[in-house]
Amino acid sequence: MTSRILLGFQIGSGEPVYVPLHHLAIFGMTQLSGKTTTLEALISRSGLRAIAFITKRGEAGFTSYNLVTPYYKPRADWQFVEGLVNVALGEKVKYEPGMRYGIMKVCRGRKDLRDIQKAAVEFARETKREFMKAVYEKLAAYLEIVVPELDRWVFADKLELAEGVNVMDVSGMRLETQHLVIASTIDYAFAHLDHVIVIIPEAWESIPQGKMTPVKWVAQQFIRKGAAIGNYMFLDSQDIGGIDKTPLRQCDNWLMGRMKEAHEVERILKQLLGMKVPAEEIQTLPLGHFYAAIGNDVKKVYVLPVGVPEEVGRDVALGKRSPESIRDEFLKPKVMEMDDLVWKEKYEQLEKQFADIRTKIYSEVKGEFEKKIEEERQKAFREALKKVDEIKKQWNIEEYQQTIVQLKDEKVTLEAELKKLEPHKAFKEALVKFLGTYVPAAGPPGFESSVPSDVSVSVEQPALTVKVERKSVELTDKTTEGKIAIIYAEEKLPSDKWFTTTDVVNAFVSHGWPRDPRIGPTLDKMCSWGFFEKHYAGKRPEYKLKLKPQEARSKGLLKEVEPSQLPTDKSVGLQLPRFGCDA
Ligand SMILES: Nc1ncnc2c1ncn2[C@@H]1O[C@H](COP(=O)(O)OP(=O)(O)OP(=O)(O)O)[C@@H](O)[C@H]1O
Ligand SMILES: [Mg+2]
Repeated sequence: MTSRILLGFQIGSGEPVYVPLHHLAIFGMTQLSGKTTTLEALISRSGLRAIAFITKRGEAGFTSYNLVTPYYKPRADWQFVEGLVNVALGEKVKYEPGMRYGIMKVCRGRKDLRDIQKAAVEFARETKREFMKAVYEKLAAYLEIVVPELDRWVFADKLELAEGVNVMDVSGMRLETQHLVIASTIDYAFAHLDHVIVIIPEAWESIPQGKMTPVKWVAQQFIRKGAAIGNYMFLDSQDIGGIDKTPLRQCDNWLMGRMKEAHEVERILKQLLGMKVPAEEIQTLPLGHFYAAIGNDVKKVYVLPVGVPEEVGRDVALGKRSPESIRDEFLKPKVMEMDDLVWKEKYEQLEKQFADIRTKIYSEVKGEFEKKIEEERQKAFREALKKVDEIKKQWNIEEYQQTIVQLKDEKVTLEAELKKLEPHKAFKEALVKFLGTYVPAAGPPGFESSVPSDVSVSVEQPALTVKVERKSVELTDKTTEGKIAIIYAEEKLPSDKWFTTTDVVNAFVSHGWPRDPRIGPTLDKMCSWGFFEKHYAGKRPEYKLKLKPQEARSKGLLKEVEPSQLPTDKSVGLQLPRFGCDA
């Protein structure tokens, strides 16, 4: 890094001309003056890093540079947004009635342009004042164009500069987006970098006279405070007229090249610190020739481009050769086969690296994804189990399962009982044939001999009395019938409403007896004995006492045996009453 940089050679004398490191402005006609070539030469010889922008398609100017991703950081302060609107509307916001007030209002407390745009739409909808409604609508409509445009580009969130010239290509972007990127970059350089040169392209456009733009806002700050930490701004413009004079006043180095337009020529002449130069001189300046106002001196110089030997440059200054010959010999892009090969190899290497990184990322993402899926699966499984438990609790599934087991057992028993009944069917048919009239149905399946002996059935025609032997059944708590008989005798079953097998199970449980799948069939059997009756509530069988225990006792159909009467071998140590049931 040096504070004195070789610019070129003085016309006529061939003396080297140096410029001190400072803010600089360079003007001249497009392509015919050589502005970018000059800037590249200065940067290259300064040893500083520089950041420049390609704003027009096909325009590069620099022969060697490092391409960097455009940098953009969202900002949401009103000054910034006002600048942006200025770029778009091409007018001075401060003269647009209500606009500055509107911008300040929509920007308050917002985090980015998207936020501000939403706010503008809302304000337009809600305001009662027609005049302000129009202002907000204008603002919203404008941001509606800018905000989606920002989404189209990939921006870097950090600025990493290589030695020499770094270039951001913003040529495909809308003018406002270009300004956002340039402004963000200047802001970043201002806040985080030192010894960096920022080149402002088309300065008449980004730092215009009279109105604020995002670039102007930050450029002013950068120029005012940058030099102290070695940051400089180089302004590049085709003319002087349209540029804001505040930053220009801070430039101690002015380089003025060929210019045709009369007003511009006049402006240049005024900057020559009193040096008398004919206007035509400015209008016919050859390529690479500039009037350089450096500090208090003005010199006519031939700028030495990068890659051109000093003595060759001096020859041009001495009029021994033309700048065009320099251009054609040193500056024309050459077909460099060797370079091409090097680049091809580098490209292939990068491509391979990229493929490797892609594969790595893919497998990492895949692994991560599979892990996530497994976790989610486990989670879902645990949740499902929890749900099942809850549902189980709600539905009392175990009770249902118990009922299902009971029903299955009942079915098996019933089928067996039905089989036993087969001979009766034949007997009944024979009897019907013989009697030719109604015969009471046989007892319940399997209990043909247990039809209560006290039942007399009278049939009217012909008079017939059927008497069945009465048989006493002794029950103990060893059988299901016995257990049911015990809870019946103890009046543990509801006496005047329907009950279910579950009620009987509960009574069993209160006795300390296990759940018994034969409860259903046994209850049915006892229905046939006339103690209970049965019906169905939907699909669920329900039972009711047909004969209350007291009634059964009074009729002698229920007898309870005192514990002392228990045969010793049947003693279960429970001192349970034994009872007999006449059936
Ligand atoms: N000092 C020089 N000696 C010889 N040729 C030069 C010199 N400066 C520039 N040129 C040539 O002139 C052409 C234009 O140069 P350059 O791109 O620097 O112009 P510019 O002023 O930046 O133009 P624009 O305004 O379009 O950006 C290029 O071909 C370049 O090689
Ligand atoms: Mg240029």
